[in-house]
Parts: sequence; structure tokens; C-alpha cells
Amino acid sequence: MADSSKHILSVYDLSRDFGGVQALRGVDLHVARGSITGLIGPNGSGKTTLFQVISGLDRGATGTVTFDRESILGRRPSQIYRRGLARTFQLSRVFPELTVLENLVVAGSRHDRSVTERALGLLERVNLREYAAVLGKNLSYGQQKLVEFLRVLMSDPALILLDEPAAGVNPTLRQTLWDMVRHLNGLGTTFLVIEHNMEVIADLCSKVYVLSEGEIIAHGDFAAIRNDERVLEAYFGKSRKHGAA
Ligand SMILES: Nc1ncnc2c1ncn2[C@@H]1O[C@H](COP(=O)(O)OP(=O)(O)OP(=O)(O)O)[C@@H](O)[C@H]1O
Ligand SMILES: [Mg+2]
Repeated sequence: MADSSKHILSVYDLSRDFGGVQALRGVDLHVARGSITGLIGPNGSGKTTLFQVISGLDRGATGTVTFDRESILGRRPSQIYRRGLARTFQLSRVFPELTVLENLVVAGSRHDRSVTERALGLLERVNLREYAAVLGKNLSYGQQKLVEFLRVLMSDPALILLDEPAAGVNPTLRQTLWDMVRHLNGLGTTFLVIEHNMEVIADLCSKVYVLSEGEIIAHGDFAAIRNDERVLEAYFGKSRKHGAA
């Protein structure tokens, strides 16, 4: 058993079968409190499925998921979210007919002045303050992804799962996003990040897990996993779509 005080999130022997497709097979994964942990793997390897299960949106898995020393597998997404575990989606989910500010305020726990101030503070921090009154649908895709990230921050979660937060985001906003992740991590927020860009993973993550066909095939620091035989095989043996390591 892994040390439960060291790890904010622990996954043991997690499996998910979609009628013949084994999306997850006996996954073990531990996220150290205060870390930025990476989750990588080729397309279709099960990364998003793992997030769906951890966040309670997919309740068809078997195994154990422990968040902050409590078992959460089978709990409703709203319960898990309220306990302090939040996530973003691979495709942005900003309310199109609400303004940017409203998008953030509805994600806050209370609707008073302090929530508005917090929202404006976050927008300021990522240079989107001037977009406060703009409707969600009128933002660029990259801006929407950033706003979705800020929505998650409104509840001040202890652990944030990011599913390819920088995909489709321009380099400037991407830099802003990763700077924000680093800043929040410095303040104590823990992150589990799915990301295809290996430079970002190497730069940001103290530990990286590699999924391939639903199985964790390697974990450790980036230097260790980049030279792992099974990792090279998973990325280069079958598909050359992503430039790993
Ligand atoms: N709801 C579902 N029903 C059936 N099969 C699914 C479902 N969700 C995912 N799968 C399958 O499970 C496997 C893992 O998919 P998943 O989306 O978790 O991969 P991923 O690692 O996030 O890929 P990508 O890098 O492309 O985002 C794939 O074979 C996918 O087709
Ligand atoms: Mg995915």
C-alpha cells in the first residue's frame, strides 16, 4: 500500500471495459500531495477514461480510487467536486451565452461580491480582464480553454486534473496557462496533467505515468521513462503520430 498521507490521490487495480474494449487494465497510480504529475500515452490509450472514472462521470469501473484518504469510486461527480477534486475537459465546456465573468461566477460556491472579485482577479492574472463582458461563444478556442481552466479555479480545489489543457491554444496563451499552473502549484495545488508535448511534461512534472492500451507501462521521472523500452515501443513501435522524448 502506498503512503496515504503522502499521496492525495491513489488508484489501485482500476479496470474499465467498454463491451470488449479494455480501456483500463489494472491501473495503479499515485499522485503525491503538492506535485505536478504527468499522464502520457498514445491516442486511445485510456487517459481520458481514467479522468472520467476518477471524477465520477464514468461509474462503470472496478478497483479502488482514494482521494484525500477517502474512497471515492462510485461517488457522484458533484460529491467528488465538493471534496476538492476538479477537472477540465479535453474539449472546452464554456457556457456560450454567458459572459466570461458570468462563466466564472456561476462556478463559484457563493454568488456574492467576493466571488466576483475572485473572478476578476483570475482574469487579471491571465490578461483576460478586458474580456469580462464578452460572451463565451465570442472567445477564440484558446481563450475558451483558458476560461474553462479559470472556472475550475473558482472552487479552489486541492487537486486539479487537466486533460490536454493547451491543445488548440496559441503559444502566448499556452505560456500563460503553464505559468498559472506553476504559480498555483507553488501555492500548494496538486495537478495531474495529460499532455502530448514532451517538453512541457519534462519541464513541469516531477513524475510521469505512461499509459498504453489501458495499462501503465512505466512511471518515474521523465529522464527515466524517456529511455524505457516499453515506452519507446508504445510511441514509435506502432504509431509515429506524436514525437515522444
Ligand atoms: N464511452 C465509451 N464507449 C466505448 N468505448 C470508449 C468510450 N470511451 C472511450 N472508449 C474507448 O476507450 C479507449 C480509450 O479512450 P480514451 O478516450 O480514454 O483515450 P485517450 O488516451 O484519452 O486518447 P486521446 O489521446 O486521443 O485523447 C479507446 O479505444 C476508446 O475508443
Ligand atoms: Mg483523451
